[in-house]
Amino acid sequence: MNKKIFELNIDDVTKSIKSTEITICIIGIGRIGLPTALSFAKSGLSTVGLDINVDLVQKINSGEFPLKDEPKYDEIFDEVLKNKTFHASTKADQIIPKSDVILLSLPTSMDENNIPDYSALKSVAKQLHELLIPGSLVIVESTIEPGFLENELIPIIDGDDKRLESGKNYGIGVCPETANPGEIMNDFEKLPRLVGGINKKSASIITEIYKHVFPVQLISMPNCKTANAVKLTTNVFRDINIAFINELSILFEKLGIDTNTVLEAAKTKYNFQVHYPGAGVGGPCLPISSYQFLNSANKFDENLLTIIKASRKRNESMPLYVIDMINEVLIKAGKSLKNCSLLILGVSYKPNIKDIQLSPAEIIINKLQDQGATVKIYDPYFKSTTVFGIKTENNLEHALSQVDATILLTAHKEFLEIKPSFLKSTMKSPIVIDTRGVFDVFAAKEAGLVFRSLGRKF
Ligand SMILES: NC(=O)c1ccc[n+]([C@@H]2O[C@H](COP(=O)([O-])OP(=O)(O)OC[C@H]3O[C@@H](n4cnc5c(N)ncnc54)[C@H](O)[C@@H]3O)[C@@H](O)[C@H]2O)c1
Repeated sequence: MNKKIFELNIDDVTKSIKSTEITICIIGIGRIGLPTALSFAKSGLSTVGLDINVDLVQKINSGEFPLKDEPKYDEIFDEVLKNKTFHASTKADQIIPKSDVILLSLPTSMDENNIPDYSALKSVAKQLHELLIPGSLVIVESTIEPGFLENELIPIIDGDDKRLESGKNYGIGVCPETANPGEIMNDFEKLPRLVGGINKKSASIITEIYKHVFPVQLISMPNCKTANAVKLTTNVFRDINIAFINELSILFEKLGIDTNTVLEAAKTKYNFQVHYPGAGVGGPCLPISSYQFLNSANKFDENLLTIIKASRKRNESMPLYVIDMINEVLIKAGKSLKNCSLLILGVSYKPNIKDIQLSPAEIIINKLQDQGATVKIYDPYFKSTTVFGIKTENNLEHALSQVDATILLTAHKEFLEIKPSFLKSTMKSPIVIDTRGVFDVFAAKEAGLVFRSLGRKF
């Protein structure tokens, strides 16, 4: 029975939440949506995860937890499946009308021209137009550019038939998701959340619900677009700063200055926030957020936010810079990419997670193969599987003994333990390219490696 939460006064809303009478539907139970759904269910609220991925829904309902790299959620998953506060479904027409709160954790990717792709949100908005019961509440957690909810999403949900009128007979607002993959539980327990509503009532109900589920500070935003602007600002701040450090690391290498040493000293200054150089910036957040902001800016003036354009250009050029590094080292060692066998250490877009979305590793591997190299992959999160069309290695030592050179692309914990002396004694030929500043330069020299490290003098 739908309680029509948007029609209740705020005291009754709070009572209904506390007595766990309201029902939640989370649409999109991927990397972020599933842990979110599990947190809602753990708080006692009856929760359904709705997804179009039939396989995923079947796996979840049969008790298989799909996010092995998300600590602590495996236990909650078992618990909420067992006590029946959570299950997954593909049946939007049955679940949406029964739910008091609909939360959207749908993907927001971009197309081949880097234009934000909001098709999943728009398609679900069409379903909501048909299926949402007046009196319900919609919360958008997906990362969207400021104004998208107000100007594009709401008009689809409302339509023209006056059955649904946002802010009048149903509530809607945002609570942008800020968790870091691999650390979602930790972030859900610590990071403040932003709440914005189409009107005050929507915002107050969202605040009451999140207060019940998450033990964190809830920051009230004046509206939805401001909350979405904050989310993009934090992501793009990182993209720009990484680009800056990538440029500096290229300069420092030419000047014979060690980037790691500079950064370690710089971060002792209270107002310096450290970022590290690398083979590129991937993942479902930083690159897309930059293009979302550019999309917003281009509607007014193409010369706005040129700093983001320049940063994207630098970060997107890093895989090519890495290819040049590899070529130079191989030539020095009397080898060439053609017919060379290479081992890539790490394909995830960032350390300690199993995620290759927009990973720079893909571009690097494709280019190496185009130039005639045979590429092997070792990544502790991708053993006994196929990544980018390559069967991955299971045993690091064995893989190292088989190749002409190795290239570290992701600083997974396991790689921080590797000593250059181990590489020297294990590798068929001791050529090592480190794009993340993981190996100690002096130890590499002492061990007798043929070595190149991004932003560092060897
Ligand atoms: N992954 C992150 O690091 C992260 C962090 C913060 C915010 N976000 C944002 O959260 C949102 C979700 O990201 P994610 O990483 O969880 O994505 P994801 O791709 O892991 O999960 C999205 C899920 O939505 C499902 N889906 C797609 N279209 C659907 C439809 N029409 N109906 C029902 N289900 C549908 C997919 O099958 C998938 O299971 C994005 O906006 C993203 O920017 C992601």
